[in-house]
Amino acid sequence: MSVPLRVVVGISGGIAAYKAVGVAREFVLRGHDVHVVATEAALRFVGRPTLEAISRNPVETELFEGVAEVRHVALGQSADLVVVAPATANTIAKLAAGLSDDLLGTTILASTAPLVVAPAMHTEMWQNAATRDNIATLRRRGVHVVGPASGQLTGSDSGPGRMAEPVDIVEAALAALRPRDLVGRRVVVSAGGTREPLDPVRFLGNRSSGRQGVAIAEAARDRGAHVVLVAAHLEVPPPSGIDVRSVGTAEELRAAVLTAAEGADAVVMAAAVADYRPENVSDAKIKKEQQGDELALRLVRNPDILAELSSAPVDGRTVIGFAAETETDDEALLELGRAKIARKGCDYLVVNRVGWSEGFATEGNAVVIVSRGGDIVTRADGTKREVADAILDLLG
Ligand code: C5P
Repeated sequence: MSVPLRVVVGISGGIAAYKAVGVAREFVLRGHDVHVVATEAALRFVGRPTLEAISRNPVETELFEGVAEVRHVALGQSADLVVVAPATANTIAKLAAGLSDDLLGTTILASTAPLVVAPAMHTEMWQNAATRDNIATLRRRGVHVVGPASGQLTGSDSGPGRMAEPVDIVEAALAALRPRDLVGRRVVVSAGGTREPLDPVRFLGNRSSGRQGVAIAEAARDRGAHVVLVAAHLEVPPPSGIDVRSVGTAEELRAAVLTAAEGADAVVMAAAVADYRPENVSDAKIKKEQQGDELALRLVRNPDILAELSSAPVDGRTVIGFAAETETDDEALLELGRAKIARKGCDYLVVNRVGWSEGFATEGNAVVIVSRGGDIVTRADGTKREVADAILDLLG
């Protein structure tokens, strides 16, 4: 886990205030010190005892309480992060105008920490010119705006205005704190698993979901890089704000990666690329009536893209490969990784264990990263996002 942060969760008065409990909870579960500042209106939607129990700290509301400790600025000054969820149209307008007629306003004005707001309101209010101008003002000042999502609103209406989900708000808020150390860099990431067609309806594939590669692309984007994601059959949506190039087969992935790699500062080959493809692809669906009880497939080797990239090193370009192995013994797994990096010639190799229930489609990952000489550079164990950041630290 990362260093515990002092997080101010500001809650303003909208129905979505009940979801702010989830925001506070998510920060607490991740080990952070949460201080809730609620407006009077917010406390009409969600009870103080709930917020105090969840945040494990007193809930602050009053500007004229604790005046001797100058509490109206102390919280803001000591915060590492300020998150306002939900941010009503009124609160957004007050923030844009710099008003500080309540504790939330003074806390925010007194803080130099990153400010994240999660708007929640009816669609008409969100689309109103005043709100749009206010949001533009906040963005221009560097405020991070998360959502709103589009969907069912409190009444029978639906549309943009629904507060983003607590976990997404927390992820975005934590991302706002990460260093932007990859600004101006071009990072190419391959993700997912290739599919090699047998006929128009069948393919040979693998179980890669693309989650780890997508997490790397997202982390690189958050750290300021220009990201090209070469995506092979992802089971998760690609992140926004990056250049996505969809591919199907290993040959297509090769063409896309080699093109994108020109001028890139880093290439991260997280995709599971088929080592073999059927020698012949049938134009028509293969019929069991014609094949009988057995069907022999003849496969031919696919090009090894990682080895190809590594055989023509470019100054200043870092090439990172992956080794997903089923070896159960840690030392033997590491030896496989060392042998693989010696064969492939890339700069770093991210070694992880996979199996029937490990590695694929899971939320977490545990990896060992080895350098070309076979030395262990780092180990990372956590969410795929945490592993992604550890990998990108190699480019720092
Ligand atoms: O040899 P192996 O498939 O275990 O190597 C895995 C690494 O090599 C991954 O980074 C994968 O993206 C890459 N690879 C490749 N081209 C292939 C097979 C794997 O670039 N044909």
